Parts: sequence; structure tokens; C-alpha cells
Amino acid sequence: MRLDKFLCETVGVTRTQAARLLKEKRVTVNGDIVKSGAVKIAEDADVEFDGASLRLSGPRYIMMNKPEGYVCSHEDGHNPTVFVLLEEVGAEKLHIAGRLDCDTTGLLLLTDDGQWSHRVTSPKHKCDKTYRVWLDDPISDDTAEAFTDGVALRGEKSDTLPAQLEVLAEKEALLTIHEGKYHQVKRMFAAVGNKVVGLHRESVGELVLDESLQPGEYRSLTQEEIAFFLP
Ligand code: URA
Repeated sequence: MRLDKFLCETVGVTRTQAARLLKEKRVTVNGDIVKSGAVKIAEDADVEFDGASLRLSGPRYIMMNKPEGYVCSHEDGHNPTVFVLLEEVGAEKLHIAGRLDCDTTGLLLLTDDGQWSHRVTSPKHKCDKTYRVWLDDPISDDTAEAFTDGVALRGEKSDTLPAQLEVLAEKEALLTIHEGKYHQVKRMFAAVGNKVVGLHRESVGELVLDESLQPGEYRSLTQEEIAFFLP
């Protein structure tokens, strides 16, 4: 496809505007500034506009290592949102598949594919979510059993579904849950008299947070990773 046509489709500009962006040296193809709209670009070309990568329309699937202090919503009066970390054209069209609290870190999924995110988050699909948890008090001997049996959360009609606790240290554990109730992990530990002081999501289903991503960094999912959540 010609570069100017590609820009029209991905940035949403006219041919004339695309020509201007090219002239202003704001577009790179595989790292090189390109000024001619007539240049043909390969299907897998890495095209960037003002440093943000461009893709032809089609669903997008992103994993981010969410940093502390960012909220999982499009707008917030107090804290920055995770969307400000996305250097993507059309980032506002993405939504979060499974939100994390402002102080929680780790694996966050963003997409514009509603069906896919439904499979990630819907309780019907019982998708495991594993969290590394740091606690205020030592983990008592009966906590794992209490979580396997299910605990009552204030304001909820039913107990939590069986969850697996792997104790790693006196005040550190991995907890795997299949639901995604509001503040679920914090409320589960509160229900057994403890307090979460740090929370980091390591995996969702078979998808594990890419260790090479620093807090705030993100990357597209591979086809194989996307398929973890397909029927
Ligand atoms: N459970 C919580 O309490 N907070 C999160 O951010 C995720 C799960």
C-alpha cells in the first residue's frame, strides 16, 4: 500500500494533510524518515507518526506492566490514567480487560475487541488470575484452607469461589482467583484479618506478564497469546 493512503486510513487525515505530515518529517518507516507518500510499504512495515506506531484498523491487543499510581479509567480527577502511557494513535478506542486498583501493579490487558475482553473477564469463563501479594501480618496457617473453602466478603451474597494460596514467605504469597470482584484480593485478606500492602498481577489465564517490560511499558500480544482466550 502507498504510504499516503496508509496514513489516511490510520491517522484519519486527507491525502493533502498526509502530504504535509510527511513534509514535516513526522513519519518514519522502519526507523527512517520518509517524505514521499508514493513510497510503497510492506505489510509488516513499522510505521510511526510522531513516535507512535500506526496499524491498519483491526483489533489491537496490548499487555502493559501497569505502574503504581495510575488509574484504570479514561479520566480521573486526581491520578494519571494508564492511557497516558500509550503512545498509540486512537488509544482512546482501547478499553481495559480486567481493571487493577491504582496502587496495584503488573499485567494489564487493553484491547478494542469487546468479545475477546469478555472472554478474559466474564466469570463464566473462569479465567485464573494470579497475584503476588505482600501482607502486613504473617499469613496464618488456616488462610489457604479458608480461601479454598471460600470466604464471605462484606456486601456480597455468596462466598468467594475456591482460590489457591501458595505461601512464599511469612508475609508474601501467590493467590490465584477465578473471579474479579471489586478489590477482591484485598477484601479476601481483610476477611481473614490481614491487610494487603502490595499487589502485583503476574498472569491472567495462560498469559504471563513479560518480564522484560519495565513499569509503564507495553507491547502487542503475539497471535499465540491472543489465542489463549479464543474458543
Ligand atoms: N484485587 C484487588 O484487591 N485489587 C486489584 O487491583 C486486583 C484484584
